[in-house]
Amino acid sequence: MTIPFAEFKSQYATLKPELDAALQSVLEAGWFVLGEQGKAFEQEFGAWLGTKTIGVANGTDAIALALRALGVGAGDEVITTPMTAFPTAAAIRQIGAIPIFADIQADTLCLDPQKALAKIGPKTKAIVPVHLYGQAADLGPLLECGIPILEDCAQSHGTRWQGRLTGTIGAIAAFSFYPTKNLGAYGDGGAVATNDPALAATVGSLRNYGEGTQRYEHLIEGVNSRLDEIQAAILRVKLRHLDASLARRRELATLYNQLLRGVELPIEAVYSHNTWHLYVIRTAPEKRDTLRQHLAERGVGTQIHYPIPQNRQPALAHLDQQNTCPISNAEAERILSLPLYPELADEQITYIAEQVAAFF
Ligand SMILES: Cc1ncc(COP(=O)(O)O)c(C=O)c1O
Repeated sequence: MTIPFAEFKSQYATLKPELDAALQSVLEAGWFVLGEQGKAFEQEFGAWLGTKTIGVANGTDAIALALRALGVGAGDEVITTPMTAFPTAAAIRQIGAIPIFADIQADTLCLDPQKALAKIGPKTKAIVPVHLYGQAADLGPLLECGIPILEDCAQSHGTRWQGRLTGTIGAIAAFSFYPTKNLGAYGDGGAVATNDPALAATVGSLRNYGEGTQRYEHLIEGVNSRLDEIQAAILRVKLRHLDASLARRRELATLYNQLLRGVELPIEAVYSHNTWHLYVIRTAPEKRDTLRQHLAERGVGTQIHYPIPQNRQPALAHLDQQNTCPISNAEAERILSLPLYPELADEQITYIAEQVAAFF
């Protein structure tokens, strides 16, 4: 059996009539940027989430523009987690701000709120918890601290914290629609979500060169970061299937939980309703890479999310924070992501679990 870590052909085969019709309607309308599809997607995704949403070009820009809307700028500090994709930190650097990395909780692998609170200083302007792998970060203690919270929801469409959808809890939130995400486009895409009309208006302007209500009048120094009509049309189709695909992710994760032996399983924290964007097991560092090799030889694709904590990235060496987060350093050596996407069959999960068991 061959089970790639991710693949999109079976999804396209299932949704082909709807996706083809959506693409055709954009081509026939002859309008490709900031049009009816984008507007409709913002309304529909906003209705699904329960906030205002603004489409942007990708999740990295969603974080950067959300930070700018919060008034964060060059030299300001933004507290975040090292156990995330590089773009969380890249977005903070994109606007000249400084990521301050606080360590993670060993059980959830998400930002430890107490460690984040301990890093607050006079220059702190925002905190960016990441709902990693589809698990809600522990937001409770952060919401009381008076510093704006930007939720990085790139991996958490549909995840709930204390019953509330992630992306609706902090001051503002950033979503990515990179193809592998719980809600993925067929290219790049992103969105900012907020209940604050002023923040929403600022992001709406920033993404379109800072234009105001009058065409070609630029009130703020904005950028070009728009969700195009083709991606918006595809996302509208996929949004209609999102709840079903999230339910399938949970079924598959439950099956893994029942079948896997010999490895440490991911948890679901008491305050979290996970959506299992990634299914990440842990094993002894000296076994991780040989297990990965063993699975590859049996046709099973795996990945490591992420092998280098972001405070240790060569690009950020100048921040001099390489040794501030011992838990994430240790866990980065133990993690391994197994395939999990809604199109997988139960038999494929069973096969993967058997191959893991055979290794031990
Ligand atoms: C946690 C996290 N934040 C931000 C991003 C950035 O999203 P994008 O790739 O759409 O720029 C990603 C995805 O790569 C991510 O996983």
